[in-house]
Amino acid sequence: MRGQEAVDVYEAVDSRRAVRAFSDEPVSKEVLERVLTAASRAPSSGNLQPWHVYVVTGEPLAELKKRATARALAGDPGDEREYPMYPAELTSPYLDRFSAAAAQRYEALGIEREDPDRPMKIAALNSEAFGAPVVLFCYLDRRMGPGQWGDAGMYVQTVMLLLRAEGLHSCPQVMWTNYRRTVSRTVGADDRLTLFCGVAVGFEKEGVPRLRTGRADMTETVSFIGV
Ligand SMILES: Cc1cc2nc3c(=O)[nH]c(=O)nc-3n(C[C@H](O)[C@H](O)[C@H](O)COP(=O)(O)O)c2cc1C
Repeated sequence: MRGQEAVDVYEAVDSRRAVRAFSDEPVSKEVLERVLTAASRAPSSGNLQPWHVYVVTGEPLAELKKRATARALAGDPGDEREYPMYPAELTSPYLDRFSAAAAQRYEALGIEREDPDRPMKIAALNSEAFGAPVVLFCYLDRRMGPGQWGDAGMYVQTVMLLLRAEGLHSCPQVMWTNYRRTVSRTVGADDRLTLFCGVAVGFEKEGVPRLRTGRADMTETVSFIGV
């Protein structure tokens, strides 16, 4: 802890967004090490710390983006999923939230809703990590259960908030799991690990419209009992 002053976590939480346009300004290893060292304080049930992160940048990332983008542009349906990202049937209110966020996202990315190439265009933007110079690939030991997947989520959010303290932005990307075999080849992850998500990291590109997604009112997702 740097001194005793209050840390403005509200500001970090509020300013974190899924940024989808990064500048090519590099991010130093020193900053990444500082963030990832601090993020190791994230909580985990039984203190298992079940995550393993590969930090990919430079030539290996350029090569990985090239390979993944070639797959995206070829309309490759992706590697078989290791975990379902959403339930088979998404119903209200989740479906409404999903649809609203998707509509906002396509508009911000300048992709027409009716564009038949929309899935391919989105996959290609994702596989370029939206221009980010660094991608963190977050893996879990595949023997881990739902409790540890929750731990991994807390860890990733901790990393993303710490990145804000460094003036950096991020975009969590489950999309990389579609190309998980390509990713695993790049990072050398062995079969005991399963890919949770990638996190694109960098400085936000200037002059790009900022997308502020909506949220359900707090009272829709929180119930106070006895207060
Ligand atoms: C685990 C996880 C995976 C995600 N995967 C993607 C992705 O593959 N591509 C993408 O553009 N956004 C992805 N997102 C970002 C969400 O779309 C975004 O967080 C949500 O719409 C809320 O917007 P905000 O983060 O800007 O507040 C992901 C978010 C999470 C938490």
